[in-house]
Amino acid sequence: MNILTIERHIAETQRRFPEARGNFSALMNNIAFAAKIISSHVNRAGLVNILGETGEENVQGERVQKLDLYANETIIRIIGASGQVCAMGSEENETMIPVEDIHEGGRYVLLFDPLDGSSNIDVNVSIGTIFSILRRVSPHSGPAQERDLLQPGFRQVAAGYVIYGSSTVFVYTAGMGVHGFTLDPSCGEFLLSNENIRTPKRASVYSVNEGYARYWDDASRRVVDAFRLGTEDRPPLTSRYIGSLVADFHRNLLCGGVFFYPAVSKSPDVAPRPKLRLLYEAAPLAYIVDQAGGYASDGVGPILRRQPSGLHERVPLIIGSHDDVHFAEGILHETMANPASDQSLG
Ligand code: AHG
Ligand code: MN
Ligand code: MN
Repeated sequence: MNILTIERHIAETQRRFPEARGNFSALMNNIAFAAKIISSHVNRAGLVNILGETGEENVQGERVQKLDLYANETIIRIIGASGQVCAMGSEENETMIPVEDIHEGGRYVLLFDPLDGSSNIDVNVSIGTIFSILRRVSPHSGPAQERDLLQPGFRQVAAGYVIYGSSTVFVYTAGMGVHGFTLDPSCGEFLLSNENIRTPKRASVYSVNEGYARYWDDASRRVVDAFRLGTEDRPPLTSRYIGSLVADFHRNLLCGGVFFYPAVSKSPDVAPRPKLRLLYEAAPLAYIVDQAGGYASDGVGPILRRQPSGLHERVPLIIGSHDDVHFAEGILHETMANPASDQSLG
């Protein structure tokens, strides 16, 4: 079998576009570089206490950072200096991250969740990085604007994630299928391991935090009941929930599964509130699943069609195998059309 590095894969993809000037390839390669640095840091995370690097300062006298902030800064430093982007947006930054003047010519913007699944960092469970690349839409003559970041998911040029698990795996799409690369730590290269990933049409797994069931509306409860108990024409699904979206998504992508995070309301007086972010989590994964033959919905319609209203907008998310996401969306639609059937709204 041919051994293909991610750099060569990106270069070969670019060759199909004679007009491409190499900016996109350079950006992707820089993201892969940042991923390797974060990966090696993640692998050492469990040694922090043993090596005495705990507390405010490490042995070199540097402040020890939380891993998610370290990942955030690593991406900002590497991509900010790459010359390919005019601005960035991160789950960890309240506002748009401007890029130095000399790079205002950058034709792209990068949106990212530097470390997803952060509650799993200290317990050696898989975590990841999620990213989304958009084309700049504001005039190139002036500074980047927030509207460069606030674009619907269907406008993404590329999206991907890196999962720091039993191996480090980099998965991306640039609109021509979904491809996965596994990091070979001995040579420091991402090598093609999963070419043209297609996700099964039917799920065998459902992933939901059922600990929140009492805070859901009736429709969400009905969806989950159908998943776990099955219906006349659907077998019951098995349950898997890691609590790292990227890891739950990756397993479901490869094996067939549906991930559901409904809006929750802990009090009858407070409107249900979703948790996951549209720009940094839902939209990039929606693009990937779409390219793999799956589907992502906010319960009303496709995530990819949703126009973001703010950098940190949160959305309900149903994502994964095509048939099961549509099935869940159908139940939610029914309840919307007939709210009287929802006991919890009473
Ligand atoms: P992040 O660590 O980037 O803040 O994201 C956490 C998310 C996501 O990874 C995961 O699917 C979800 O939180 C888990 O939430 P619950 O613990 O509420 O189930
Ligand atoms: Mn996250
Ligand atoms: Mn995060």
